[in-house]
Amino acid sequence: MLETLNPQPQDKILQLIALFRDDPRDGKIDLGVGVYKDATGLTPVMRAVKAAEKRLWETEKTKTYTGLAGEPAYAAAMLGMILGNGFADRAAAIATPGGTGAIRQALELIKLATPGATVWISAPTWPNHPSIIKYLGMSMAEYRYFDAETRGVDFAGLMEDLARVAKGDVVLLHGCCHNPTGANLSAPQWAEVVALLSARGAVPMVDLAYQGFGDGLEEDAAATRLVAQSFPEVLIAASCSKNFGIYRERTGILIALTSADRKAVVQGNLNFLNRQNYSFPPDHGARLVTMILEDPALTADWKAELEEVRQNMLGLRKQLAEELRRATNSDRFDFVADHRGMFSRLGLTEAQVIRLRDEHAIYMVGDSRINIAGLNAQTVPVLAAAIASVCG
Ligand code: LMR
Repeated sequence: MLETLNPQPQDKILQLIALFRDDPRDGKIDLGVGVYKDATGLTPVMRAVKAAEKRLWETEKTKTYTGLAGEPAYAAAMLGMILGNGFADRAAAIATPGGTGAIRQALELIKLATPGATVWISAPTWPNHPSIIKYLGMSMAEYRYFDAETRGVDFAGLMEDLARVAKGDVVLLHGCCHNPTGANLSAPQWAEVVALLSARGAVPMVDLAYQGFGDGLEEDAAATRLVAQSFPEVLIAASCSKNFGIYRERTGILIALTSADRKAVVQGNLNFLNRQNYSFPPDHGARLVTMILEDPALTADWKAELEEVRQNMLGLRKQLAEELRRATNSDRFDFVADHRGMFSRLGLTEAQVIRLRDEHAIYMVGDSRINIAGLNAQTVPVLAAAIASVCG
């Protein structure tokens, strides 16, 4: 049986981890996978997470199963963080293994409800989006998103493409901090997208993996909140990997907004999908997040540290834009300071990306996406000089 298997293409982002690890050169710089790193290159365990873990170790009495949907307290805390108040009566939710688990379960739910639905994704998007959609055998379409000239959003192209969405189609939107580009819709643009998709009768699916990494915890939820208010049905796949720094704990949530009448049936279907795929969702990370969000002192400390993380990335963006201005003697990379989140797509060619790797030991995804948090004050000028040399 197994001899029939063909090799699978490697995930381009994960492939870089191994390439970087095997590079013996001193001073190599990893701008690949989206993991936050501080100035010393460490991905720290956040203070509030450590405190919650200590408390959990002292107080936890059992490790018996939770509910199929995970703990209701986790869903309530996450709903509050993402949407604020006022949605509980129409929100069904399941805890999932990370944001990817939430995306997978959202797509499974769509398939269960409307097997023929088309899922629209931005061009470009996080490579795992099309990969899972294809794997599930679902129909997929793309809408233009990125303007390669300005490195901003191609808003005219996006609106033109989304005007072709059919009733009942699902449109996958990045709630904030677009991955891989770093280019984001403005508030007025979000309002236009919401109006268009409402008029088309689309079902929005929001991927929210970086809340707190862009303009702030509340600000980064604004678009998702607008979407939640504006549609009868919305799917939200959220991750705690980045904003709580608990990547390996696999902590995510899928929220399905529906009518109060349909909530119980939708919840039952979500529970069913958890049962089919892995039974009970992981609990440890979800429990830590709940403890942090339910305790005002832990919440305050977590928010303060998250804000430091955000400010650090903003500072690096500013410094990189300035260094690139100097190194290239042009303003062509000024967009780096305007982008938000962990990533920026620089607009380099694949050949230039390979030269950066071969000649300068600088690793980024082949589409020239960089993880800003992979930099520090010392490596920013090194990157800027290297980019100038491959662009010259
Ligand atoms: C990324 O885009 O680098 C992150 O979301 C990590 C991943 O799993 O790809």
